[in-house]
Amino acid sequence: MSDFVSGYWSWFITVPTVAGIVWLLFFTRSQSKSGSTDGETTGHVWDEDLQEYNNPLPLWWRNLFYLTIAFGVVYLALYPGLGSFPGLLGWTSKGEYEDEVRAADAQFGPIYADFLQQDLEKVAANKDALRIGERLFVNYCASCHGSDARGSRGFPNLRDTEWMYGGDPKAIETTILNGRQGVMPAWEIPLGGQDGVNAMAEYVLQLSGREYDAQLAAIGKEKYPQLCIGCHGPEAKGNPAIGAPDLTNNIWLHGGSRQSIRETIGAGRMGRMPAHKDFLGEAKVHLLAAYVASLTGDYETFSDER
Ligand code: HEC
Ligand code: HEC
Repeated sequence: MSDFVSGYWSWFITVPTVAGIVWLLFFTRSQSKSGSTDGETTGHVWDEDLQEYNNPLPLWWRNLFYLTIAFGVVYLALYPGLGSFPGLLGWTSKGEYEDEVRAADAQFGPIYADFLQQDLEKVAANKDALRIGERLFVNYCASCHGSDARGSRGFPNLRDTEWMYGGDPKAIETTILNGRQGVMPAWEIPLGGQDGVNAMAEYVLQLSGREYDAQLAAIGKEKYPQLCIGCHGPEAKGNPAIGAPDLTNNIWLHGGSRQSIRETIGAGRMGRMPAHKDFLGEAKVHLLAAYVASLTGDYETFSDER
């Protein structure tokens, strides 16, 4: 509670709080002393004959009221609440969170450490490990890749067979540990404007086996070796070292409509997968990598893709 820029704000909270409690006690004391109005009406009348009497509150009610005040005073003495006063117990929400994390680490740490010693292949075949991996995935990855890991526009599907950065378990682990950044430059100017972009989009459609305009695609094809080959490769199969995707499989990260492809080529795209090494630690990432590797179902077939 030492986040205040000056002591003023601490007093700004403390003084009205304490004054409020003192005032409440004082006010109720003077009320209960002046019992002289007992049995008299306040003069308020509703619905013709419904009168309000000025009777004292029942004793149990008043005691309950004093009890809540006593609770408040004790609470404010023990826990942080009065400005920057930390409370006699020294409790903080951060400290409580850290205690929980420490307890969880003590409980699960040895289990994680055990899996960390094993090959990813072995971990990916262990049902218990995959269950932990799934929980971790839902907590830390689902916000971007979806709880079913099927991704969305700009966030890759982790269940399909296309891997921008390589789909063998080791490559997946590297991706999660260190993060990745994929940069597709904008080509509108090098392609000579929107017509050039549209022609290139037709060629990309042709590459992925879709319907295309043959005349325009031929124009795009001419430019491919000069502008695109360096990253997407001579056969447009992509390059996992820089995350350039395969353009021949009709699987799209940024949308496969003619319009989306034109936008991708014209304006470029950028995707960033954050690094998780420091945030989660190697043991959790190991379990996550095994889980993600297991998602395509047939673990054996994709390890030598591309
Ligand atoms: C400097 C390397 C580089 C060059 C050169 C390059 N690209 Fe890309 N391209 C990428 C990367 C990296 C991505 C993935 C972007 C991401 O991570 O979001 C990409 C993505 C794409 C996509 C989107 C694929 C999808 O699944 O949505 C298309 C289409 C594409 N590039 C076409 C082209 C064309 C056509 C050219 C030549 C005019 C070209 N690229 C030149 C690196 C490159
Ligand atoms: C802030 C959003 C975000 C979070 C959180 C995130 N990712 Fe990603 N991830 C991405 C993006 C964006 C890409 C694609 C990077 C690119 O376009 O180059 C990606 C790429 C990947 C890839 C590479 C896919 C391929 O085709 O090679 C894997 C594997 C992956 N993420 C796994 C995970 C796991 C496991 C987690 C949880 C620990 C996670 N991601 C958390 C945004 C995220």
